[in-house]
Order: sequence, then structure tokens, then C-alpha cells
Amino acid sequence: MDAVTRPSWAENPWRQNPWFESVAVAQRRAQKRLPSPVYAALLAGSERGQTVRDNQAAFTELGLLPHVAGQHAERSMTRTVLGQEVALPVLISPTGVQAVHPDGEVAVARAANNRGTLMCLSNFASKPVEEVVEACPRTLFQMYWTGDRDVMVQRMQRAQKAGAVGLIATLDWSFSMGRDWGSPEIPEKVDLKTMVRMAPKVATKPRWLYEFGRTGHIPDLTAPNLAPPNGPAPTFFGAYYEWMTTPPPSWADVAWMREQWGRISGTPFLLKGVARVDDAKRAVDAGVDAISVSNHGGNNLDGTPAAIRLLHPIATAVGDQVEVLLDGGVRRGSDVVKALALGARAVLIGRAYLWGLAANGQAGVENVLDILHGGIDSALLGLGISSIDELSPESLLVPDGFHVP
Ligand SMILES: Cc1cc2nc3c(=O)[nH]c(=O)nc-3n(C[C@H](O)[C@H](O)[C@H](O)COP(=O)(O)O)c2cc1C
Repeated sequence: MDAVTRPSWAENPWRQNPWFESVAVAQRRAQKRLPSPVYAALLAGSERGQTVRDNQAAFTELGLLPHVAGQHAERSMTRTVLGQEVALPVLISPTGVQAVHPDGEVAVARAANNRGTLMCLSNFASKPVEEVVEACPRTLFQMYWTGDRDVMVQRMQRAQKAGAVGLIATLDWSFSMGRDWGSPEIPEKVDLKTMVRMAPKVATKPRWLYEFGRTGHIPDLTAPNLAPPNGPAPTFFGAYYEWMTTPPPSWADVAWMREQWGRISGTPFLLKGVARVDDAKRAVDAGVDAISVSNHGGNNLDGTPAAIRLLHPIATAVGDQVEVLLDGGVRRGSDVVKALALGARAVLIGRAYLWGLAANGQAGVENVLDILHGGIDSALLGLGISSIDELSPESLLVPDGFHVP
């Protein structure tokens, strides 16, 4: 290996190889590297954590039925999702407040772009949509139902002008308060007083500090994509207050939102957070192009079943009219294969890439996407399937009572 290609970690025998072999390893590294409140903010969950646990546990109840011979030497996992061809059926789910890494969503977007998939940018993201679209031209912008209609239209126009290739409306938030294991302290802003108070938790994480120190700025915890035209970005809590005090949307509001985006952009509109067949049908009536079967990664109404339990009945009911995606609990390629076999066109991942980002920045997110790519490929090989298009429930062992109607 010559000096140019030799990885830097190989020159220092004490430096850990930054590559990781599974999402679980990335999570352990994230826990080690991040200050405890930041790690806890990513771990998230709500109330007693029933849903967040079930999202992952439910995947372990599904079995795969492999063949011993007759497999295919070449396997395909490319597919068109939301009008875009992706190299693997895994999209980056929108997640807010990324004080994980100084490059935040821009690093994630670069990784998505390099691996041939789509970036979905949170309303509460720490980087402006313009910068993120530059890093990944195939970015969808996510919005909550927050602010009045003029404000929402203005935010849609900004996303369209930046070049967003779709809009995601996440409407499943129920402002649930309190976790049995305690919530991390999120400061209103990071000033000197806050830094002194949080110093003991941060000082033990020199690598995280170093990453931010190198860039010369500390996380400012604002939401730049919620700024009024030519105005300052609100703080996270300012933005949260606007959201909490906005009356919840009706189905007519969903149709209005869809119509506005159609008028402004003409690119696809996805409703995220669908957990019931009747809602999926209403979403179709409201004119959406796609839905994501999701419980917000278990951060929302605790007691909602795992997203994978909800998927098949919903995909059966509306899968021929809209694209059905899934998010929640995906940690390995075989999880993706299970979701596709039960009717998902693609999945979105949240924590998995956040762990990767914390473990090794952009390369860590690419590492996670590579793990999922490899896992999908190996599941297809084992199942004797040459393309994700051939996946069906027959590829799986599904226990009685698994699907929630
Ligand atoms: C820390 C964190 C922040 C999130 N922020 C948002 C957000 O701003 N908008 C959104 O639509 N979903 C948000 N989500 C939900 C994710 O988009 C996704 O639904 C969820 O993470 C999927 O579950 P998984 O983490 O098990 O993959 C967030 C999730 C986490 C863990």
C-alpha cells in the first residue's frame, strides 16, 4: 500500500480503524464519543419506550427462508422511489437537531449522494436547505404543520427554489412529554453560562469537542429553515413553541398542503406517520403520492405498534394507488428485505445513520449505507432472488397475528 492510499488510522497503531461492521457497533461508538445529553437526544423514544423497542423487536419475529442452491450470481436492488432512481431502497429519514457533528445534515447529504440515494431534510434541521441541496441535489424537504398558511407556503417556496425534489409532511406528532428514563437537557442556546454548566458532560468527550473546535463554531441549536424571509433563524424552543401552538391539521388541510406543493413544485408529496389502513385511504383521497408507515421512530405516541406490524395491511389496501414506504427500527439489510417483502417500496432510516454520523462523520453514514447494501444483497443471495422486485411475503416466515389490521 503506498503513502497515498494508506489510511491514516493504519499509521498510528493505537488509532481505531474507523470502519465498523454493523449498525450496533456504530451505536456503541456514538455512545462513547458523544456527550451524554447529545447521545440521549438521539436515542429519544417516549414515555415507557414500548414503541421504540417494538420497532426493532418486531423485525426479529420475522424469519427468512433461504435456498441451499440455485441462487443468482447477480442481484439487483435499484428501484424508482418518488420519481428518482435509487441505488438501494434505503432513504435518509428526516431528523432534527443534529448537534452530532459540525457538518450535520450536509455530511449526511453528501453521503446519500455518494451512495446514490435520497436525502430527506428535517424542518428542524441545523443546516439551510440551500446548502443541503447543493450537497445532495436529490433532497426532499420535510415540513410539520406549524405556523399559519402563509408561513407554510413561504417555506415551501423556499424549498422549491433551493431545488427540493419532493415534500414530506410529517403529521403524527402528539407532543408527548416525559420519559421514564429521563430526558436530556437541551439548552435554549449555547452561551457561556450553558457551556460552564454542561462542561462536566462535554469535557470527557474530547473527540467530539475537537471536531467542533476545528470548525471554530459550536452548535447554535437554531432552525434555519424556519426563518422568516431576511429574518433570524428561531431557536429550537422558539420553533417548537410555534409548532405546539398551531392547531392540528384536518384532512382538508392535508389536501390543501398537497395542492400547494403541487402548484409550487409539481414534485412528489409524501405523508409520513401513517399507522392505520383508514388513514392510508384518506391520504389517497387527499391526493398524496406516497406515504410512510411510521410511528416517528417510537418518539411519539407510545403504545403504537411497530411500523413493520402495520405495513402489510396498509400496503395491501393502498399499495396499488400510492407508494408505500416504511420507517422505524431498520438496522440491517435483512430488515430492509423483510419490509420490501411485506409491501414497502423502500425504507427510511433514522438512528442508524445518526450513529454512523456520530461514529465517523460523512464516511460513517456511507459506512451504514454500505452495511445495509451488503445485508440486502446477502439476503437476496440466500433467498435465491435476483431482484428486490421478486420479494413477497412468501420469502418470509411470518408468525400468526403479526400483522396489525
Ligand atoms: C433524534 C431524532 C430526531 C427526529 N426528528 C425528526 C424530524 O425532525 N422530522 C421527522 O419527520 N422525523 C423525525 N424523526 C423520525 C425519523 O424521521 C424516523 O421516522 C425514525 O427515526 C425512524 O426510526 P429509526 O430511528 O428506528 O430508524 C426523528 C427521529 C430521531 C431519532
